[in-house]
Amino acid sequence: MKISRRAALKSSALAATALALRGPRLFSQASTAIDAHIDIVPGEPIGTISPEIYSHFIEHLGGVIYDGVWVGPDSKIPNTRGIRQAFIDAMKAVQAPVLRWPGGCFADSYDWRDGLGSAANRPARAGFWGQEDSNEYGLHEFMHTCGAIGCKPYLAANMRSLPARDFYQEIEYCNAPAGEISTNSAAKPVHNALAAQRAANGDPEPFNVDLWGVGNESWGCGGNLVPEEYAAMFRRFTAWTPSFSRMPMRFVAVGPNGDDVDWTRRLFKSLYSNSERRHLFGLSVHYYTSGSPTAFAEGDALKFSSDEYYDLLTRASIMERVVTDHWGAIGNTSEPDQPKVKLVVDEWGAWYGKGTELAPQYNLSQQSTMRDALLTGITLDIFQRHADKVAVANVAQSINCIHSLMLAQEDKFTVTPTFHVFQMYLPHRGAQAVRAEFSAPAIRNPLANAPIPVGGNSYTGSLEAVKLLAGLSGSASISPTNPKLLTLTVVNPHIDHPVTAEIAVGGAGIASYKGTVLAEEDVHAHNDFAHPEAVKPRPATTGSSSNGRLVHTFPAASVTTLQITLA
Ligand code: AHR
Repeated sequence: MKISRRAALKSSALAATALALRGPRLFSQASTAIDAHIDIVPGEPIGTISPEIYSHFIEHLGGVIYDGVWVGPDSKIPNTRGIRQAFIDAMKAVQAPVLRWPGGCFADSYDWRDGLGSAANRPARAGFWGQEDSNEYGLHEFMHTCGAIGCKPYLAANMRSLPARDFYQEIEYCNAPAGEISTNSAAKPVHNALAAQRAANGDPEPFNVDLWGVGNESWGCGGNLVPEEYAAMFRRFTAWTPSFSRMPMRFVAVGPNGDDVDWTRRLFKSLYSNSERRHLFGLSVHYYTSGSPTAFAEGDALKFSSDEYYDLLTRASIMERVVTDHWGAIGNTSEPDQPKVKLVVDEWGAWYGKGTELAPQYNLSQQSTMRDALLTGITLDIFQRHADKVAVANVAQSINCIHSLMLAQEDKFTVTPTFHVFQMYLPHRGAQAVRAEFSAPAIRNPLANAPIPVGGNSYTGSLEAVKLLAGLSGSASISPTNPKLLTLTVVNPHIDHPVTAEIAVGGAGIASYKGTVLAEEDVHAHNDFAHPEAVKPRPATTGSSSNGRLVHTFPAASVTTLQITLA
């Protein structure tokens, strides 16, 4: 190995890029020829990247809340008000902007009143996912979780099994100020009863929740409705809701299962048949990538072949079509004014079958490898490339679940490779997305001819089998505070060879650049409790820059962030 290192060093300055990468595979396959081009066009802005596309989701499911987020105030595990400290710290480290709760499917059988008051007096109930819920973790504990992280709450309201009255009273409970409130009438100011109840439960200050999911997956666990039925429910639930400040309410309507554009078209046709659109901010979109090309929520998180690796990433990149198809379907109305409704992709991630869960009671928990890190990069890059369309996105789910950033069991804790990608993408938050053209030979999806799964929520809709995976993909943005600072994130999915790209920035030269890379010898690499740092990012070795162009080698199966200072 040492000999080939010396030989490679002599061969080209570009090979130095590979030297910074550990492991013989990454090193020995460094290429010196230009394999790809990335042309960044700062003159073609796409939109401001909403910081809320890096948001999170936790649900009463398996070990997500109990033992994941919540260990209880009397636990020996370090905590703040019962919330696992390591969870808080990791969410702070990725600057989590928004946290969604309590579901998911759980939300539509959850009564928010059950989680109020003294924990000892709260009713234990049967909950979705075949589990019992002590209700120890309720609305106040969730708000304290958001407070400790410094993020905004996003509440999913129960539309299937509670009446509209509960929806507006939950809003009232969360947002009515304590103390005397003007009646806006000839009557004297009053104390709002629900605000008084909230204060008696320990939180006099309003929670000020503006983001509300009106139901969840109403085409499935949320009621098995058809779009017209849901539209009627949405109109009824949102026809009147209380407001206590100038903060606009943001209501999110239940959107499709995967690429089911028929749902979106019919929903909006039905919604727009009535001119009242109270606070309709977004359309919820759920798109999971099954670990199997033929069945939903199958495949192994840890054991997979190269073919399965490429197939999963190809199907993950369908998110691009999911975004553009639904965006088109929202706008597909005869009304002259274009709707302002944005996409809220509030569940996404890779969903595997059983086999790597922490223990049987940690339902749906799964391991995460480098493959999932690449899926994360591909997905976030899609959201960034469509900054004009996607306002919010929530990974499912933050801890001990499908596509998690963290795994925790009792006093054991680790972050996953996905956590690192979230951290590496932080410079894009609030930045101006600009067009970036990637030219690289595509990879043929070796499993593209497998039957396409329909059902579940991995792949429903109109798409045909996707045969090609981009040989290099990514996105670019310009810092909101420094117009000379450009962030470029890039995923090289090639499992066994690096890609050397020439990068040009239209209308500007490149003064300098630095970078961070997440790449491991083996795409199956992952962190576990015994090896929490097996996968972690490293500084990228920079390549050459001349005539305003940059040549950089992206290691095999890697996610890279480059910060480029323009001349
Ligand atoms: O995230 C797990 C489940 O996936 C959610 O509860 C539901 O909304 C979706 O089907």
